[in-house]
Amino acid sequence: MSFAVLGTGSALPTCVKTNDDLSQILDTSDRWIYTRTGIRRRHVITSETVLDLAAEASRKALDAAGISPQDLDYIICPTVGGDYITPGLGCNLQEELGATCPAIDINAGCSGFVYSLDTADGIFARKKARYVLITAAEGLSRIMDWNDRSTCVLFGDGAAAVVLGEGDGLRYLKLRTQGCCAPLHGRFPMGNSPWTKEEPHTHFVHMEGQEVYKFAVNAICTGVQEALEETGLSPEDIHHVLLHQANMRIIDAARKKLSIPEERYHCCIEETGNLSAASIPTLLDLCSRDGLLHSGENLLLCAFGAGFTSGTAILTWK
Ligand code: ACO
Repeated sequence: MSFAVLGTGSALPTCVKTNDDLSQILDTSDRWIYTRTGIRRRHVITSETVLDLAAEASRKALDAAGISPQDLDYIICPTVGGDYITPGLGCNLQEELGATCPAIDINAGCSGFVYSLDTADGIFARKKARYVLITAAEGLSRIMDWNDRSTCVLFGDGAAAVVLGEGDGLRYLKLRTQGCCAPLHGRFPMGNSPWTKEEPHTHFVHMEGQEVYKFAVNAICTGVQEALEETGLSPEDIHHVLLHQANMRIIDAARKKLSIPEERYHCCIEETGNLSAASIPTLLDLCSRDGLLHSGENLLLCAFGAGFTSGTAILTWK
């Protein structure tokens, strides 16, 4: 017994910053950002907390699933970081929702949602749960260097959630980690220990764009091809493709190498930017609420992120 998706929800901060807005504070332009990334605008946290977004997305998913927080048996929060170093966002969310179940965070960079599906699959397999909430939430604008135009323009803030119940909707899931931290990382903030020998550093995200690009395209192509081979499904059997929304050029490069019909790829990056772990579930919620997903259809999810981590899943929609 594995799981089926019972409900989805998402939440974005109210403040929207367009590429033109960024060109007021950085040496950049809408033309550069849009042609290189496919992003037009992103939502950024102003007065909201990451928890606010997580709670809003979770409540929408719980409503869609028709269950209450007290029905939950587990909460998993894929995130690069909530509002606190400790406790984790999952604990904050459990308190905010009034749930009583165990709650954990998973930090697998932008692949966190697919890693969380794997964890949820294990919980269902051990018959430890009837309902699991996965809420991915990111406040990436807080860890960008807003003087680094090559990185800060790519990301946005947001949250998205799914409620999972017992079912047989998971057809395939495979995770990979290729330990390689230098091209994409953010350091833990410096403390004030009088004994540290560390050189001063910031906690901002550092990204070597071209290294990430090469890894990402390869991770998608390898992950998708393996998924098709190992399930015996043909490209035609995949009705919807939801790739991590990192960069339209990454999505286009992978799309050209794979033989899944072009119109089956869904995207929201133009409106949201890269939401890290929240990107795939946000896209899933948008597709679901737009009525694009039908019972019996196969959804292919593929994520890649800092670590380097990657993960591919095939879900059959119920
Ligand atoms: N506006 C204007 N010019 C810029 C900007 C900007 N925002 N950013 C960089 N430039 C300039 C550079 O300074 C450089 O100028 P120079 O030639 O005078 O030195 C020029 O543009 C080209 O810079 P490159 O870094 O070579 O640009 P590139 O074509 O590689 O594009 C990009 C950069 C878009 C980041 C690309 O490398 C890429 O798509 N990488 C993938 C990274 C990614 O998408 N990460 C997502 C987050 S990670 C994840 O989700 C897993």
